[in-house]
Order: sequence, then structure tokens, then C-alpha cells
Amino acid sequence: MARKASYTCQSCGNITTQWAGKCGACGEWNSIHEESAEPIAVSGQKLSKRNRRSGVKLETFDGDEQIIDRYDTGFKELNLVTGGGLVPGSAVLVGGDPGIGKSTLLTQLAAKLASNEKRVLYFTGEEATAQVRLRASRLGVKEAQVDLAAETNLEAIIATMNEGDAPALCIIDSIQTLWTETVDAAPGTVTQLRATTHTLIRQAKKSDVCLIIVGHVTKDGAIAGPKVIEHMVDTVLYFEGERGVPFRILRAQKNRFGPTDEIGVFEMSDTGLAEVTNPSELFLSNRETQGPGMSVFAGIEGTRPVLVEIQALVAPSPFGTPRRAVIGWDAGRLSMLLAVLEARCGIVLGTQDVYLNIAGGIKIKEPAADLAAAAALISAFKNQPLSPDSVFFGEVSLSGSIRRVSNADGRLAETEKIGFKTCYLPENNTKKRDVTIKCQPISHLSDIIDLLS
Ligand code: TYD
Ligand code: MG
Repeated sequence: MARKASYTCQSCGNITTQWAGKCGACGEWNSIHEESAEPIAVSGQKLSKRNRRSGVKLETFDGDEQIIDRYDTGFKELNLVTGGGLVPGSAVLVGGDPGIGKSTLLTQLAAKLASNEKRVLYFTGEEATAQVRLRASRLGVKEAQVDLAAETNLEAIIATMNEGDAPALCIIDSIQTLWTETVDAAPGTVTQLRATTHTLIRQAKKSDVCLIIVGHVTKDGAIAGPKVIEHMVDTVLYFEGERGVPFRILRAQKNRFGPTDEIGVFEMSDTGLAEVTNPSELFLSNRETQGPGMSVFAGIEGTRPVLVEIQALVAPSPFGTPRRAVIGWDAGRLSMLLAVLEARCGIVLGTQDVYLNIAGGIKIKEPAADLAAAAALISAFKNQPLSPDSVFFGEVSLSGSIRRVSNADGRLAETEKIGFKTCYLPENNTKKRDVTIKCQPISHLSDIIDLLS
């Protein structure tokens, strides 16, 4: 019987029977390619076993739990993000823009584990072994007993994993370069990604290897074939950072063995990635003398308080439609804030270009940053600096009132530690606290305008 052609969107993995210029599921253009949608060959499983009629043995919640004996990564930050270290038999996907430092981090990690007498396999599909060696010598880990190979064929990789002592860690750099003979599609296509990841994960679970897969990121920020790989792996770590800024943030987006939204902060130096144990000091270290349009936000990333600087610039727009540019924050949230400033506080920015930047390359997702962003915008609009020893947090509602946020204690403690004097916070967050820093309650956004007049 002739094989029916099927078409797969390379962006979202949606399968259709007809080619189209635009994917009906995710709206991406030119992402649909012909691919065989044959089921992945499940080798080693007998048909009779899969077709058996008898039911499975059922258990209760109240049974033996899995005892996880984690590998210490040697990096405190990486241990924090992974929830205490790498878990044997788990699969971790590390995503990030090209050149952000994924291979650097994994080379350092491989060397650390190898120095703890663990067997580490490193398969590189993107670089020659000589290039990886060059990186290792730059990182000062040339002596580490890491088993390195430049290989992209899945069957060869699995065979290598089965040879010799059982490895503790296996790194695949990157999954987009792998191909398996069992499917008829080019490397990097959704079918290949799905098939190779599936086989690798099965191998990792079977032989209790911690598998780390590097995944590329497409231009819109999603890991290529994201839905396909993300749901298969146990942990998804995402490496963030801005070009030209040495700070790198490793964020757990999904973690079956630990918390999510925890961040690890690193700094790229000449000799590789170094850990940053006090991110607040780092994000505020390059602070110039505080000019108009700058404020400091007391944020929480995962379980850790982090202080960051928010910068705003407001300038008359030469065009009919003013520009709104945001780096490190949500553009929709900025629009909302501008609308609230106009409707509730009488600050009209309709003819002004507005730029907002979170310094240091970190991306802020918390609504608690609203108040600090608004303070920066108001200060930029009025061209008057805020007091340099003040810090802000609070969520702005559409009425302009300030809503309470979580973990005010953690934020205040960090603010005090770094040496700020005053904290502007939601009225509902100002219960009696054991801090020496001055807590200034803010009930409405217009109170911030009063600070500057
Ligand atoms: P790399 O780990 O190759 O990125 P990825 O694997 O995510 O594509 O890192 C590449 C960048 O890091 C490159 O621009 C050089 C820089 N780098 C340093 O600054 N210091 C170092 O010690 C190393 C190894 C790389
Ligand atoms: Mg790389």
C-alpha cells in the first residue's frame, strides 16, 4: 500500500494531510514540511506483550516512594534550579539562543562530575572534537576524564552508552543534529526530534543515566519542536541573557523533581561561567547616579529575592503612532500601565515614545513590578529623579489602586541587606514587621506623583 503523505508543522508539531503555507494551529508561515508520520519503532517490545488482554496491577498512593539520590553538579546555582542536583534516570532539556553559553555550562558540568569519579559521555553534533577540546582548555578542564565523541547517529550513541561502565551523565549537544535510521526525515525535523528524544529517554530510564539534551531556540523564543520535546522530558531549563551583557540566567520552566521558576545566575567570563551568589548586588552594581526615569524593584525569582533596576525613557514622538519598546518586561503590561496612568492619574503619554528596560538582561514576569515600572515612567515623564535609596513593589490594578503582593518579608529583608532606606509598598502589605527600613504604604498610583512634586 502506498504510504500516505503527511505534513508536520516544524513550529508546533501539528500534523495535517495537506500542505499549506500557514499552519492552521499556530499561525506560523512556511513551517509545514512533508514528513512521515509513521509511529516510532518501539524496539525490543514484543507485540504479544503489548496486545495482552489482562489488566495491569493497580497500586495505592500509600506505597513506597521513589528515593532520589541526586548528583551534586558542583554549581550551587545549578543545584538550586534543578531542585537539589541532577536526578539519575531523568531527562533535562537545556534551551537557549545560540552563543548564550549552553555548551560552556555543560562542558564545565561534565568536568565537575567527571572529577567526582562519575563517567560522563559528551556527544557533540555541532562541533568537531577539536573545538570542544579548545573550549575545555579555555575553561581549564582539559584534564577531566570526559568521554567525548562527535556523533549524530542515534543508534551509534545508544550502542556507546551500553558499552563499558554505566555512565552517570550523558550530554547531547544538540538534539537538532541527531538522526535515527528508523524514520525517514531530515535531522532537526519534528519527526526526527520526537523519535530520537523518545529513544534517548527510554535508554536513560532503562540504564539510570541522567540525560541532558541541548535544544535550539527559534527566532520567536520557542525551542524548535517545543511541544514535542518539552512534554517528554522531566525538566526544561532555559538559558536567558542579553547580548553584550555578561549575566546569564538559567530558569527552570518545568521540573518534575523540583520547583519551577527558580533561577540560577551566572556571569560569563574569559574562563567560562562563574556563579553569582548575590544577584541583587550584581544587577545593581553598574548603577549610575540615579537620574530621572530610574527605579529599583524588589522582586522575587523562585524563592529568592532579587533587586533590579528599571529604566524608563519618555520622549516626544516624531511620528503619528508613538513607539513603545520594552526589554525584559511584558509589552501588554506596559500598555496597561500607560492606560492607567492616563485614565487615573492624568499623565498623558499618547504623543510620547516610551522605552522601558530592565537592566542586567533579566526578564521580569511578576505583576509586583508594576509599581516600580510606573514610578520609573512617572519620574521620566516629570524629568525628576526618585530618591536613590528607595525601592518599590506592588501590583497596579486598573483602577490605579495598589494591590498586595506575596512574600513582602523576603523583599524587605533583601532591600534592607543591600542598604536601601525606604520601601514603597502596597498598603495591605504593611503589617508590623521586624525591619529597620522605612515602609511607606502606597494606596493609589497618584501617591507616586506626589513623591515627585
Ligand atoms: P557556547 O557555550 O558555545 O554557546 P552555545 O552552546 O549556547 O551556542 O558559548 C559561546 C559564547 O561564549 C561565545 O560567544 C564565547 C563565549 N565564551 C566566553 O566568553 N568565555 C568562555 O570561557 C567561553 C568558553 C565562551
Ligand atoms: Mg553550543
